[in-house]
Amino acid sequence: MPGRVLILNNIVEDDPYEQDRARGPQPLSWDPTRTASDVSTIAEELADIARELTARGHTVEIVNPRDDLGVLTGAITRFAPDAIMNLVENFGDDPAHEYHVAGLYELYGVPYTGARPAALALCQRKHRTKAVIAATGLPTARYRVVSGRPGDEHAPREHGLRFPVIVKPALTDASVGIELASVVRDQAALEARVVHVLEEHKMPVLIEEYIDGRELHCAMIGGGPGAPEALPLLEMEFSDEIGPDGIALPKIITYDAKWDQHSRDFYAMDSRCPAIDIAPALVARIHAVAIRAWHAVGLRDYARIDMRIDPATGEPFILDVNPNPDLADGGAFMQCAVASGRTFGGTLDEIVGFALARGRASGRRPMIAPR
Ligand SMILES: Nc1ncnc2c1ncn2[C@@H]1O[C@H](COP(=O)(O)OP(=O)(O)O)[C@@H](O)[C@H]1O
Ligand SMILES: [Mg+2]
Repeated sequence: MPGRVLILNNIVEDDPYEQDRARGPQPLSWDPTRTASDVSTIAEELADIARELTARGHTVEIVNPRDDLGVLTGAITRFAPDAIMNLVENFGDDPAHEYHVAGLYELYGVPYTGARPAALALCQRKHRTKAVIAATGLPTARYRVVSGRPGDEHAPREHGLRFPVIVKPALTDASVGIELASVVRDQAALEARVVHVLEEHKMPVLIEEYIDGRELHCAMIGGGPGAPEALPLLEMEFSDEIGPDGIALPKIITYDAKWDQHSRDFYAMDSRCPAIDIAPALVARIHAVAIRAWHAVGLRDYARIDMRIDPATGEPFILDVNPNPDLADGGAFMQCAVASGRTFGGTLDEIVGFALARGRASGRRPMIAPR
């Protein structure tokens, strides 16, 4: 049943892809025979989402409050949505406000898409998410945490981890702080990298055993208390590149690979969905692990859990739990949804439908002025 849907995001900075779009095709500095790929702007992606929901009968408005709480609350009370499509990932330069904003929807009693505050808060802390996953008996790479607090050890010597390891800022996502240099092969390089990440990001550091195997992403969808549907797997494919020291470069999704269409990393990676050449038993194992992790973390509506397959044991290890993966057309989540036989618009309608159904089932009147 269609409803009034308020799409909320919060982006304060200018979209760099807007500037790229305005400049037109640019040659790659490292290969002038090629031009940088065209990347959709955030405004285009939001317009696509709004168009699809409108085509399915919803009354849709998009609001970007640009860090202004009055605009955010004003949009909720004025538009009086039956459901909010929550695309807010930060507010006021404080990542904690990602889950505080979801808490605001809770207080207003307005149904919204995606995970609730507790799960959003947990997933912002990679080390705590890993602790929950490990305590559930699910496989995740062995790790240590460096707090960065004065007096605490900066690079543990007795860590017991097997090299190579990957060093990541613990409170980020979207590959922030992930570079090829994040993968280190000995204690000296580890200590230097930990100091670098502490200085650069000013937050706890996660040191994790590097799993040099296939990377598979498992998207899931489901609004009720039961098990979500695990969708066909997406595989990240990396080209074989040799570093200046003659050693193969690590195959990882760096920040540049994800976001900078002018970088070399961007073109060293591709995705394939559904993954091919994968045993049905492994797909079933990955789906089962992902669904158990969904329940352990408390995910809702849609999520993506990224894993690596240990080449020695064939066992999937959880790398990353994404409670609010990008829903853009053609993005990893939507590739998986489409591979399951859904359409982009149908998937958005399904996700919004979960929130609308919760609103109908609760029978609770939102704490906002009647329209
Ligand atoms: N333990 C690991 N072993 C191998 N690759 C890893 C490991 N941890 C992270 N990576 C690589 O780095 C990427 C980003 O790490 P991830 O933990 O998913 O951070 P983010 O939340 O920023 O996406 C992963 O998609 C993967 O390619
Ligand atoms: Mg990730």
